[in-house]
Amino acid sequence: MRKPFIAGNWKMHKTIPEAVDFARRLVNDCTGLTGRRVVIAPPFTALQSVAEVLKGSGIHLAAQNLHDKPAGAYTGEVSARMLADAGCEYAIIGHSERRTHFGEKDDVINNKLKTAISFGLRPIFCIGETLDEREEGRTFSVIDRQVKEGLNNFNTDDIQPVVIAYEPVWAIGTGRTATPEQAQEVHGYIRDLMGKKYGENISGVCTILYGGSVNPDNISGLMTQPDIDGALVGGASLDIESFIRIIKY
Ligand code: PGA
Repeated sequence: MRKPFIAGNWKMHKTIPEAVDFARRLVNDCTGLTGRRVVIAPPFTALQSVAEVLKGSGIHLAAQNLHDKPAGAYTGEVSARMLADAGCEYAIIGHSERRTHFGEKDDVINNKLKTAISFGLRPIFCIGETLDEREEGRTFSVIDRQVKEGLNNFNTDDIQPVVIAYEPVWAIGTGRTATPEQAQEVHGYIRDLMGKKYGENISGVCTILYGGSVNPDNISGLMTQPDIDGALVGGASLDIESFIRIIKY
């Protein structure tokens, strides 16, 4: 069965001491918690210090982004190899904020996914439609395109480590969550797509997270849906009490 998977995306928040303090409290609270996979994605600067705290705790570390090239003259960028070296097991790739503010297109995201996997990082691959796209009835065609292009040239081996996060852009940071039924409709669609592309074995084990204004009050409703395996949490993952309530929904 797919274990509930709760990931916190801290975005551009927390200094090293703040991140370390949070991680210590998380380790204290989640020790012995076997029924969940818990992942946190601090900013780059705090990764290594947080990795030290998480060691042996069963809580996993993620990066929020990486460069699609393995190394080279790319001033200001961070490579998959560096992130694995810092202790990351996961990397968030294709987040809508990267797509919107940094112009990341499906082909770059495809390269990033491949690079992450080649360095042993498990991608958390984000997809989702904007409000306009939803209102124009294009949700499923946008999802189709993002999955097709993002996973271009992925075979059944490449796909194994990939976690998918469905994050409707209109629900991110807006306080406006998709209803459990709205989210399930798209999650079911994504799982069917994976089945068609890679077979039922893959679609049955593929973890599909929901993201967009998840909080301690709406998590359990979302988690009752058959194809929602967990959450990618932004704002509500910054406060330890709120994040723990989400983990222990
Ligand atoms: P939010 O962000 O929970 O603050 O809406 C989710 C995300 O961006 O992954």
